[in-house]
Amino acid sequence: MSAVIKGGTIVTADLTYGADVLVEGGKITAIGPDLQGDKVIDATGCFVMPGGIDPHTHLDMPFMGTSTADDFGSGTRAALAGGTTMVVDFALPAPGQSLLDALKLWDNKSALAHCDYSFHMAVTWWDEQVFDEMRAVTERGINSFKHFMAYKGALMVNDDEMFASFSRCAELGAIPFVHAENGDLIAEISAKLLARGITGPEGHAYSRPTAVEGEATNRAIMIADMAGVPLYIVHVSCEEAHEAIRRAKMRGQRVWGEPLVQHLLLDESEYFHPDQDHAARRVMSPPFRNKQHQEGLWAGLSSGTLSVVATDHCAFTTAQKRMGLQDFTKIPNGTGGLEDRLSLLWSYGVTPGRITMNEFVALTSTNIAKILNCYPQKGAVLVGADADLIVWDPQKSRTITAEKQVSAIDYNVFEGWEVKGLPRYVLSRGTIMAEDGVLNSREGHGEFVARAPNGAVNRALSTWKDLTSPRAVPRGGIPATGV
Ligand code: URP
Ligand code: ZN
Ligand code: ZN
Ligand code: ZN
Repeated sequence: MSAVIKGGTIVTADLTYGADVLVEGGKITAIGPDLQGDKVIDATGCFVMPGGIDPHTHLDMPFMGTSTADDFGSGTRAALAGGTTMVVDFALPAPGQSLLDALKLWDNKSALAHCDYSFHMAVTWWDEQVFDEMRAVTERGINSFKHFMAYKGALMVNDDEMFASFSRCAELGAIPFVHAENGDLIAEISAKLLARGITGPEGHAYSRPTAVEGEATNRAIMIADMAGVPLYIVHVSCEEAHEAIRRAKMRGQRVWGEPLVQHLLLDESEYFHPDQDHAARRVMSPPFRNKQHQEGLWAGLSSGTLSVVATDHCAFTTAQKRMGLQDFTKIPNGTGGLEDRLSLLWSYGVTPGRITMNEFVALTSTNIAKILNCYPQKGAVLVGADADLIVWDPQKSRTITAEKQVSAIDYNVFEGWEVKGLPRYVLSRGTIMAEDGVLNSREGHGEFVARAPNGAVNRALSTWKDLTSPRAVPRGGIPATGV
C-alpha cells in the first residue's frame, strides 16, 4: 500500500519548497507535484520534515541504585508522540562487565521499541577485553563509544583509560563521546558541602560549577586531538565548555557539541525552589545554569558552533528522586524531555527567530544522522530514505502537563509551558504512528539502525594523521671512527 503526503511544504536542513511525498514499502519513493497514492495524508498548512532523532536517551537504565522509569516501550511512545522517530540509547556495561553482554541486555530491552533506535556503547572500565570487544561492537553497527569523566567510583574513567579508548576508536573508525565534568573535583566539593550541612538539591548546583565542566571539556578535546579522533560532547551546558568547543573548531578539530533542550530553557533557580520535590526532580548533570550561559548556548546553535539538540532523557519518578531526601548526592541524576523537545525548540527557537526552520531540522535530525553515520537512511526527505516523517502543524498548540504525557513519570519539568507547533502526523517507515497527538503505534515495530564505522570525518582524520605522523630523520650511516 502506498500513501501520499499532499499539500505540504517540505522543510529540510537546506531547502524549503512545496511538493507531495509518496511513501511505499516504508521508503520515500517520489517527491514532486500532484503525486497519487492509495491513501492521502493531508498536509495543508503544514511543514513536512524528517522525524526527530534524539541522540541521547537512557531507557530502562540501572543508575544510582535504581532504574530509569521509562523503558523502550513508554520511552519510544513518548518520542513518537512528540515527533521523534528514532532514539539512540546508551548500552551501559557495569564496571567489569563484558561489552557484548551489555549489548545483549540492551537488545532484549529494545524489543519493546515502537520507533527505530540505535545504541552507543559506554566504556566504563578498561582492559584488554574491552579493547578486543570494541571491534565486535563496531561490527554490530555501533560506531560511537561513550566515556563518563564524572560519577567517580561508578562509571568514571581516568585520563589514561580515556586516551587508550580514544586511540582504539581512532583505529576502528569510531567516534568517542564524553560526559565532560571533572568527577574528582565534584566528589571533593560535594563532601565539603555535605559537611557544611548543605544536603538539599541546591547542593547539586553548588557541587558542579561551570569550571568543572569547562576543565573536563578542554581535557577531553586535547586528549581526542592527541588520539587523532573526532569528539562528541554530550549535554554542553555552559560558556566554558562551549568556549573550548569553539576554540577547537577554530583550530580545525572535529568536535561536536550537544546542548539539551532543558539547558536551553531552564535555569539554576530551579534548585533553590522551596519545594524539595520540585528541586530534586530537576537534578541532572550538568545542572541547569544561569541565563548568560543559556544565551551562549542559543548563540552556538545559530552560529553553528553547537551541532545538535538532544534531551538526555533519563526519567525518574518523584519517589525515586526522594532517595536523596537527606543527601543531594543520592538523588538519581536525570530529567525527561523526549516528548517535548521538538515543540519546545520550535516554540522558543524558531518562533522568536533564534533559529530558522531549516536549522531546526538540522539540529534535531539531519546533523545527528550525519554525525552518527546513518544519513540519508535517516534525517532526510529524499527518495530512497526511510519514510520517518512528521507533518508539522505550526498552528497547533498545547500546555505541557504531566497529566497528559506518555512518559511514565508523575511530573514534567516543563509543567505549564505553552507550546505552539506540534505534529499533526508522525510516520515511522511509512506507517502513521500518531495523529493529532493520538498514538497508534505497536510494540516491536522499532528496528535497530546499524551505523557503520569509518564515516567521512574519521577517514579524513586518519589520512591526515598518517601523513603527519612522527617520522625518523634519515641521517645516513654513522662514519667509522677508525679501528
Ligand atoms: O544527569 C544526567 N545527565 N543523567 C543521565 C546520565 C548522564 O550523565 O548522561
Ligand atoms: Zn552524562
Ligand atoms: Zn513545583
Ligand atoms: Zn546521558
